[in-house]
Amino acid sequence: MTLSTAQMRFWSPEVRELEPYVPGEQPKIQNLLKLNTNENPYPPSPKVVDAVQAVLTQQADALRLYPDPDATALKQAIAKQQHIEVSQVFVGNGSDEVLAHIFKAFFLQDEPILYPDITYSFYPVYSQFFGTKTKEIPLNENFEIEAKDYIQPNGGIVITNPNAPTSIAMGLPDIEQILKANPDRVVVIDEAYVDFGAESAVGLV
Ligand SMILES: Cc1ncc(COP(=O)(O)O)c(C=O)c1O
Repeated sequence: MTLSTAQMRFWSPEVRELEPYVPGEQPKIQNLLKLNTNENPYPPSPKVVDAVQAVLTQQADALRLYPDPDATALKQAIAKQQHIEVSQVFVGNGSDEVLAHIFKAFFLQDEPILYPDITYSFYPVYSQFFGTKTKEIPLNENFEIEAKDYIQPNGGIVITNPNAPTSIAMGLPDIEQILKANPDRVVVIDEAYVDFGAESAVGLV
């Protein structure tokens, strides 16, 4: 949709300059599973269905109340499942919201943040939105991320693992090498697709 100048008069100047994010292809073919949106070929566990139904039947009254702003029960469950402390868990409405907090909190530095070229196409959009300086690091000829390329001055690092849309994963020793070389910078490992097969870096926290 092209907006008219009249429609855009409400917009902040910096938003007018933004290049909109275009979501990955969303075909409307029936019985097609979209791996790029993490769709599951299997139905939820019966325990999940029971838990959702229990909320609707036994605890529906709680829906008129404001939810726990700390999401304590959720954080406790995530911490238990990931074998980490509750204080190490931060929850958001999807990982794009968490990334927004990360960009604003950590990525407004004098040096550019580093991320691969190619990777999740939302990083450049957030960089533009928040005013983050960026340096895109080309993948190697096999479309892999090379740890050694992330050992250089930077204002932070964000790496999707496994990477999107290449689907190629980095091993933990490579991630550890990047972490050790950047003790004073925030290194984000975006594991949106980790359950398809890569090893999670949560244990390195
Ligand atoms: C690498 C990566 N990180 C984060 C996201 C955002 O995911 P969410 O739907 O949880 O906001 C996506 C979605 O495409 C993604 O591909």
